[in-house]
Amino acid sequence: SEFLGQMLAQAPGAAQPAGPAVPVTVLFGSQTGTAEGLAKKLVKALKKGNFEPNIQDMATYDKERLAKEKNLLVITSTYGDGEPPDSALELHTWLMSDSAPALTGVNFSVLSLGDSSYPDYCQCGIEFDSRLEALGANRIYQRVDVDVDPDEPYAIWSKAVIDILAPAATALVDSSTSDEIEEVGFSKKNPFPSRVLKNYNLNAPGPKQTNHIEFSLEGSELEYEVGDALGVYPENPENVVDEIIAALPFRAGEVPTSTGEEVPLREALIRHYDIGNINKSLIQKWQKRSGSPYLRALVEADDKTEWENFCWGRDLIDLVLNFPADFTDGEDFVSVLKKLQPRLYSIASSPKAHPGEVHLCVGIVRYDSHGRKRGGICSTYLSDRIKDDSCPGVYVHHNPAFRLPADGNVPVIMVGPGTGIAPFRAFLEERKATASKGRNWLFFGNPYQASDFLYRDELEAFQKDGVLSRMDLAWSRDQKEKIYVQNLMIKEGAELWKWFQEGASFYVCGDASRMAKDVDAALLSIAKEHGKLSDDEAAAYIAQLKKDKHYLRDVY
Ligand code: 2AM
Repeated sequence: SEFLGQMLAQAPGAAQPAGPAVPVTVLFGSQTGTAEGLAKKLVKALKKGNFEPNIQDMATYDKERLAKEKNLLVITSTYGDGEPPDSALELHTWLMSDSAPALTGVNFSVLSLGDSSYPDYCQCGIEFDSRLEALGANRIYQRVDVDVDPDEPYAIWSKAVIDILAPAATALVDSSTSDEIEEVGFSKKNPFPSRVLKNYNLNAPGPKQTNHIEFSLEGSELEYEVGDALGVYPENPENVVDEIIAALPFRAGEVPTSTGEEVPLREALIRHYDIGNINKSLIQKWQKRSGSPYLRALVEADDKTEWENFCWGRDLIDLVLNFPADFTDGEDFVSVLKKLQPRLYSIASSPKAHPGEVHLCVGIVRYDSHGRKRGGICSTYLSDRIKDDSCPGVYVHHNPAFRLPADGNVPVIMVGPGTGIAPFRAFLEERKATASKGRNWLFFGNPYQASDFLYRDELEAFQKDGVLSRMDLAWSRDQKEKIYVQNLMIKEGAELWKWFQEGASFYVCGDASRMAKDVDAALLSIAKEHGKLSDDEAAAYIAQLKKDKHYLRDVY
């Protein structure tokens, strides 16, 4: 494609770049690598036109530059409760504060990534967008919000901003997009049909189920690094799909899918559309076709708590059964549904320890609500519904924001209760395979030692052969008082602080809403107590750790 770009630039009669190259800074804030991937793609496209692009990670961006930027394209994700990515936190805080400079003369546009199933959808991008404007910068193109599937909105936004920044360059950039469609290899759009080699429960039989699943990558040419995630396309449960179809007021026929092909409604509902959790935008569409006064009141009130209460523990089947709506046919019905999305799981293996394989550690989500047994679509698919050991769609999602230190001598602290252990099994395998000298300290936790000590044999073997220097275990329900990983961190605060002084990198994986917040608070209190820092100094110390990528999180 570089070659094609050059050919076009040199070909007589081709659109010639006009005037001096246009400087563009592409500033990204990424938590799981998606924003970073799009930023790199944009820079690649810009390079083919008459641009001088410059890619900047919010984590390392020199704030002094901001007011001097000519053209600033911001790509940022949002995570957790509408929060900025960890690496963007410092820049975001500064930009929102009174210290932010006037930005007159800066042209900008924002691409904002999010997931519309969450309440504060795209919040971080929204804040960058409005704050840049408030500081006097000139918005050259409206913010585009991107739901889980970025391809189309990214294409619209990038084409628009390129057009505006340098109309003469568009022809060249456009001509190079065609070769990107021919992306070779397996990817999110073209996932790999993998053979499942092993799939078993790591817990003792009981209420909690966590599966260890091994996939073969043989023949895929897929490559990954520890810290990456595996995307998995699930299938919906057939019995629920049949129940939905039986209750619909029209005869099931063929319906279109996002790829343009027509398939029977049953197949579409199993493989192509989301019949899991419902959300505000679906209910708004549903309400228009259902005479339900209850739904109308919900839509009109438009109250965040009421939305959450209604959606919690309900799936599409509840709307179909309890709030019947008029649909003319299957096509009309699927038009209100979202496309079934792949789920991302942190990879639990090192390719150096298991060549040709990729392993996952997956918590199987099952619960009862509104009188029904329910489950997580992808986790129950992996546990209950894989047929003939064949999983039709997996791909590697690269996450450059969650990596082991490049220097094997750097000490590593890992906090990963529950399925948060996944990437740390991979880290330990990698540190062993590369004979890294740096010490490794793991905090793991789960309810009961007897039933929930995931990977016990392997972890104890890592201890024996010296790879795991320390392992602290929080069995939350083995005694009257709860013991959590952060309690053990506080207990070991003096030693932890020593590790930080020795340049350790700190990693957290697992529950975002409670655990990761509490672990963050524990870190703050350790910095205050053992580093003798004030509140502000401790907060600044932790912000600096994040900025220096010595504090990395993979939380969900
Ligand atoms: P619990 O379920 O007994 O409350 C993995 O899920 C482990 O994380 C479990 O032992 C769980 O304990 C624990 N856990 C729950 N809330 C937590 C929190 N806020 N911080 C840390 N660990 C937590």
